[in-house]
Amino acid sequence: MKTLVIGTGGREHALARALARDPGVSEVHAAPGNPGVATVATLHDVDPLDGPAVAALAASLGVDLVVVGPEAPLVAGVADAVRAAGMAAFGPSAEAARLEGSKAFAKEVMDAAGVPTARAFVCTTPAEAASALDELGAPYVVKDDGLAAGKGVVVTTDRAEAVAHAASCERVVVEEYLDGPEVSVFAITDGTTVRPLQPAQDFKRIHDGDQGPNTGGMGAYTPLPWVPADLVDDVLTTVLQPTVDELARRGTPFAGLLYAGLALTSRGVKVVEFNARFGDPEAQPLLAVLESPLGELLMAAATGRLADVAPPVFAGGAAVAVVMASRGYPVSSSSGDVITGIDAAEALDGVQVDQAGTAIRDGDLVTAGGRVLAVIGTGPDVAAARAAAYAGVAEISFDGAQYRSDIAAHVT
Ligand code: AMP
Ligand code: GLY
Repeated sequence: MKTLVIGTGGREHALARALARDPGVSEVHAAPGNPGVATVATLHDVDPLDGPAVAALAASLGVDLVVVGPEAPLVAGVADAVRAAGMAAFGPSAEAARLEGSKAFAKEVMDAAGVPTARAFVCTTPAEAASALDELGAPYVVKDDGLAAGKGVVVTTDRAEAVAHAASCERVVVEEYLDGPEVSVFAITDGTTVRPLQPAQDFKRIHDGDQGPNTGGMGAYTPLPWVPADLVDDVLTTVLQPTVDELARRGTPFAGLLYAGLALTSRGVKVVEFNARFGDPEAQPLLAVLESPLGELLMAAATGRLADVAPPVFAGGAAVAVVMASRGYPVSSSSGDVITGIDAAEALDGVQVDQAGTAIRDGDLVTAGGRVLAVIGTGPDVAAARAAAYAGVAEISFDGAQYRSDIAAHVT
């Protein structure tokens, strides 16, 4: 099978790496990719948001499967364009990707499917937002309705800050605060059959101790030894399957990766958000310990045959990803800082580096974005995987590098 991965991030590096080790995959292409992806795939130039251009590239390469990584191309209909040209695509239609693209739409689907989530109000005027804030009380949760790369959400006890965020967005969702730890459960689905992956956890704030602003994610680990043993079954029954069934019932089936961001609250599991693609950085540790052939699973999901292939299997042990970001992130980012030490890190036992915001300049690997790379450590348990990841981080340097020192540190 020949495959083409669309996107440029650490998730796409992990996807390309996992496809390359599937014995059923003969070629891995990627576009636009980055210098890390280039070590496991052949790169091509394309505008990832241009569906007809992606379909034309896929046709010219003769690929069997296009895997669309990020949310923006999915929401723009890139998977639809590939399917319209007669090829298989892993990733939901633009219509189904609204589950991520519009928080208001996601709430409506959850309501119809009886999926537990925070009580919410969709507001388009400052007066509506103010009355929703007062109805629900502090802590306040105010979300920009559209895509915002994980940065459109404000959670605060400061009413003035909540009001100001609402005023800066055209349409906001004001919702009930959910207490309890957050967990990500991903599922591969063909629109009917749903195959959950093992749980992972993401660290969203920039600084240690969950301080500072939200980011796209500063680290992740899997599995989670502390969650109830029946969590995945519970989430499949109460969240994932009803959501997939509801979208099928509407005639807009969701085929691809359904990402449930969950809060384990004192009143049970509730959905914080849905995403329509693999989480970044959760995908990196998950794919590092996935034993099943990824190409077979994604192809089966893309062609409505997921019930016919074996469910995903994970290696025992654990994986931890630590993101290294450039100076200024998440407010801004710094480009052109020379990165050293990736080879030394990858020479360590159980360490790999998935690149995200990197580029080659005058023969040097340099920073080219906010989240620059993730160091993934694997080991027999979370503590060992964490030690491997941080040993890798210690080898890598660039000017202004920022990373958290407490990823997967408090795991019981
Ligand atoms: P979202 O983009 O919806 O995932 O929100 C980003 C982050 O904001 C989440 O991962 C949570 O940490 C936090 N958050 C979002 N919604 C809530 C909520 N209802 N209660 C508490 N925290 C929330
Ligand atoms: N890790 C969070 C996300 O991918 O949205």
